[in-house]
Amino acid sequence: MNIEIQPLRIEDYQEVTELWRNCEGINMREDDNRRNLDRYLQRNPNLSFVARYNQKIIAAILCGHDGRRGYLYHLAVAPEYRRNGIASSLVEKSQISLHALGIRKCHIFVMKENESAQKFWEFLSWRQRQDLHMMSFNIMGNADAF
Ligand SMILES: CC(C)(COP(=O)(O)OP(=O)(O)OC[C@H]1O[C@@H](n2cnc3c(N)ncnc32)[C@H](O)[C@@H]1OP(=O)(O)O)[C@@H](O)C(=O)NCCC(=O)NCCS
Repeated sequence: MNIEIQPLRIEDYQEVTELWRNCEGINMREDDNRRNLDRYLQRNPNLSFVARYNQKIIAAILCGHDGRRGYLYHLAVAPEYRRNGIASSLVEKSQISLHALGIRKCHIFVMKENESAQKFWEFLSWRQRQDLHMMSFNIMGNADAF
């Protein structure tokens, strides 16, 4: 299979959000609008990638950093292309790009019920933190809405 991996561009917005919406395990929010993705990509150039097969986007990853730690989001592969190492390749691309910027550690948030994703991350030697709880605050005022 001839898969091409390329940086995610804002022009890919329509196609990539369609992929994310069609993949279980990816929570799309109103914050995933075009303006925010554009801002994210401008703040974090050349860290996020898409995989294309016959020019069509079949997988994607969002990657950014805050100057200190890297963060990955929205890793997804279209169901019919899974178990071909595509997600592993995308993670590796983002990790190499973070490393080139001097970022030494990277985090991912995985939903508790997403066991297949947990197995995937464990396969890549990522480890679940036992020493942390994730806590969030809704700046818009609704304490229970995430
Ligand atoms: C999780 C996901 C990204 C993996 O993509 P992928 O391209 O199939 O992953 P890879 O082919 O690189 O998998 C590498 C290894 O991870 C493990 N793995 C991947 N998917 C797995 C699954 N569903 N169950 C168990 N192990 C799995 C396997 O060890 C696999 O190696 P193998 O195929 O030789 O057994 C994909 O299933 C997906 O898009 N899921 C829906 C969205 C999602 O949950 N994203 C993660 C958010 S944190």
